[in-house]
Amino acid sequence: HTYDRINVAIDGPAGAGKSTVARLVARKLSYIYVDTGAMYRAITWYMLREGIPPEDELQVNRIVRDMIIELIPEEDVQKVLINGEDVTPHIRSLQVSGQVSQYSKLEEVRDRLSHLQRQMALRKGVVMDGRDIGTTVLPDAEVKIFMTASVEERALRRYKELKDTETVTLEQLEHDIAARDRLDEGREISPLRRAEDAILLDTTFMDINQAVEAIVSHCRSYVDGE
Ligand code: DC
Repeated sequence: HTYDRINVAIDGPAGAGKSTVARLVARKLSYIYVDTGAMYRAITWYMLREGIPPEDELQVNRIVRDMIIELIPEEDVQKVLINGEDVTPHIRSLQVSGQVSQYSKLEEVRDRLSHLQRQMALRKGVVMDGRDIGTTVLPDAEVKIFMTASVEERALRRYKELKDTETVTLEQLEHDIAARDRLDEGREISPLRRAEDAILLDTTFMDINQAVEAIVSHCRSYVDGE
C-alpha cells in the first residue's frame, strides 16, 4: 500500500470535542494538527488587549494585515504566537470565548487566517479543525468530518474543563454555547455548516476514543480503498 498523505477537515460547533479528537487523530496518523479556533482566539485576545473593538474595522484590518501569526506544535498543546509573543495561556478564557465570534466574522480576519491555513496544508498530512475547513479553507480535503453533540452535552464537557479555573455555572455555559452556535451559523462569511460531502459524527454518546477510531478508520479506508 502506498500511504499517501491526505488532509482531514474536522468542523463542528463549540464543545463538540473537535480539538481533543483532532489532536489524537493527528498523533495516530503521524500528521500535523492545526487548531484554527486557536488562531481566531489569539487575534481576539490581542485586539482586546490593544483595546480595539470589533466595530473599528479599519484598525482591526490594519493590525491583522501586519501581524505575524505562528503556530508551534508541541507535545500536548499547540502554541500560538503573535508578533513573537506566546498568547496561548490567555486564549481559552471566558472573556475571549465571549468575544471571538465578533472578530471572527470580519472579512479581513477570515481572509488572512484562511490564507495561512491553506499554506499549512499544502504538503498534506494535516488534520485541521474549525468551522469552515471543509467548506471554505480546504474544500478539497480528502476526508471531511462534521462533529456535533447536543448543547447540553457540550456545555457539560466545557464545564468540566473550566470549573477549576473560572467561576461559571452549567446553565451559563449552555446559554453561552447556544449563543455562539447562533453567531457562528448565522454570520455572512463562511458560516458554520456541514459540507455536503462531510461525514456526520454525533459524539453525544461517544467517548473520545470512539470518535478518534471512527475518524481514523475513515482515513484508512480512504487511503486503502480509493
Ligand atoms: O473551536 P473554538 O471554540 O476554539 O473556536 C473559537 C471561535 O473561533 C468560534 O466561536 C468561531 C471561530 N472560528 C471560526 O470562525 N472559524 C474557524 N475555522 C475556527 C474558529
